[in-house]
Amino acid sequence: MNQVRQSFNRAASSYDAVGTLQHQVATSLTALIKTKLSANFDGRLLDAGCGTGYCLAQLVPIYPAAEFIAVDFAERMLDQLPVDLKALGINANLENLPVCTGKIDAYLSSLAWQWCDPALAAKEATRILKPQGDLFVSTLLSGTFQELAHGLQACGLNPDQHLLRCTSSAQIQSALAAADIEILSLASTQMTTWHENFKALRHSIRGVGANHLPNHTTPVLTRQTLTQLVEAYEGLRTSRGLPLSYEVLTIHARKR
Ligand SMILES: C[S@@+](CC[C@H](N)C(=O)[O-])C[C@H]1O[C@@H](n2cnc3c(N)ncnc32)[C@H](O)[C@@H]1O
Repeated sequence: MNQVRQSFNRAASSYDAVGTLQHQVATSLTALIKTKLSANFDGRLLDAGCGTGYCLAQLVPIYPAAEFIAVDFAERMLDQLPVDLKALGINANLENLPVCTGKIDAYLSSLAWQWCDPALAAKEATRILKPQGDLFVSTLLSGTFQELAHGLQACGLNPDQHLLRCTSSAQIQSALAAADIEILSLASTQMTTWHENFKALRHSIRGVGANHLPNHTTPVLTRQTLTQLVEAYEGLRTSRGLPLSYEVLTIHARKR
């Protein structure tokens, strides 16, 4: 966990320049929120794993009467919040929030839950939400980075040792059900980013801080294995470049 946090700390200053896919996902999630929360929403909204505040920067101007809380366990991400953002920054783990029970009207999290135990994240979200409070989450599912997984397998390596192990939609749904949160809508989409070369593709992962795995140290690839991996990956090249796929799950749910 600490290594993951440090990795996000190191990426904080490059995050917005590299995180095009992350911004697209955040924009879709905030678009959903804008259709579900009325224009005169004056409650408390918490962004769990807020990063540089990309979601909140879109929501704060829309809801002038609301109160916003920005939570991230990487303190340097919080340093990147826009200076004029009307939000309280809290440096904390979203699995264990320093927030009183039943005080939050709306909970959002964009691309942070895949770094956590979804059961703990869901349980903590429901603890802080008021009854009938809304939950909006985007997270990654298994199938994310499938091209890298195949490439690693082709080199005789175990993808689980090198790539973030994401959960299935069914696991997220059962985590929400166990936390007594009713799912109102759920959609999964495959999004693909395209890269000029393998170095640029790797940079799209490292530049947003997503290069350390929870629970174990990522083995270093030898020069020989890296060359093999690059060669295997070149087989996937199209006129758009080298693909990297993300399976994105978007959920709107409500605490019972
Ligand atoms: C991919 S970034 C997404 C940032 C932001 N939500 C966005 O959409 O641009 C993931 C963020 O989640 C944070 N994060 C990951 N696990 C966390 C945890 N357990 N508690 C709090 N923050 C966490 C990271 O520090 C990072 O800032």
